[in-house]
Amino acid sequence: MSIPDVSSLSLVSQSSSEHDEQEKDNLAILLDRYKDKLSKFPKEKGWMGQDFYMYQGFWYTSENAFSIETMMAVQESFQGHSTDIYVITQPKCGTTWIKALVFAIVNRTKYKNIKPSDHPLNISNPHKCVPFLETEIIAKSFPANPPRLLASHIPYNALPKSIIDSSCRIVYLCRNPKDVFVSWFHFANKLKDKSRTPMTTGEMLDVYAKGFMPYGPYWDHVIEYYKASSEDPTKVLFLTYEDMKIDTASKVKRLAEFLGYPFTKEEVANGVVEEIVTLCSFENLKEVNKNGDLFTGIPNASFFREGKVGGWSNYLTKEMSQILDDITREKFQGLDISF
Ligand code: A3P
Repeated sequence: MSIPDVSSLSLVSQSSSEHDEQEKDNLAILLDRYKDKLSKFPKEKGWMGQDFYMYQGFWYTSENAFSIETMMAVQESFQGHSTDIYVITQPKCGTTWIKALVFAIVNRTKYKNIKPSDHPLNISNPHKCVPFLETEIIAKSFPANPPRLLASHIPYNALPKSIIDSSCRIVYLCRNPKDVFVSWFHFANKLKDKSRTPMTTGEMLDVYAKGFMPYGPYWDHVIEYYKASSEDPTKVLFLTYEDMKIDTASKVKRLAEFLGYPFTKEEVANGVVEEIVTLCSFENLKEVNKNGDLFTGIPNASFFREGKVGGWSNYLTKEMSQILDDITREKFQGLDISF
């Protein structure tokens, strides 16, 4: 069997280069396990001309780390624990940022006395600090000690039962779908695999609106986590990128409380909250990650573009904006979700 091309489609990974070959082999075995199942699912051409498969209401690519196969493998074989912390997003909603914040909050005592330049977030990509379930199921290496900090793009209802049924914590971050769209558009153009022809905004709007994107439709993903958070706010914290931007410090405090790591009065007085905000700021993380690649060949720098709210207005025509607004209004009708 040929080794599937993981380099072009995987969004990130956390393994060092010496493990690449092993991981490619692991992925090939995993893909082989599910290959007979794919023909049963509805299929459409979507983002970047890729084949997308519909499973349990969502669209997935195939033959890469963030695929229908890895999602099914996670569903079947990952065992969640009540002490786990999950960071869940749709791609391009600020995954890298929220991973950094959760990592910094939970590990602040551990790294209290080290030189700032030695902090893991000042050395490596947040995707290495908080690995994805989707890539760890390939690497077969999950964090050993509680709390396990893990991330995923998997929709709520597709999560393994052990996660849904446990008293773990889930932090969910979403973002204005118009900024998500534009962020996807630029990310696609930065992918190193130049054999794929980048899409125009018009072509992308067509597939984005239909949901033919990794883990799409965007809106349905948000709704599942919004409802899960409404049903049990102690289990799922629902955040928006826009709110995080308005007052990051107060959201960091909220996050810390939710995760069971509240800041003491002394920490607040000593500026620990602000230190975390600065450590995880767009400017700092962009600087730390200006060189190097994740093993998938995606440059670290590609996760840091503008980091702003409302940048969509520079890229979308009035008509495009209207199309996305109409979908958002219709899908979120009756729900208290705004950006
Ligand atoms: P833009 O493309 O709009 O700039 P993800 O991490 O889910 O892939 O999302 C990437 C988006 O988050 C990019 O948005 C990126 O610039 C932004 N981002 C990355 N790090 C950030 C940070 N520390 N603070 C705010 N935004 C950040």
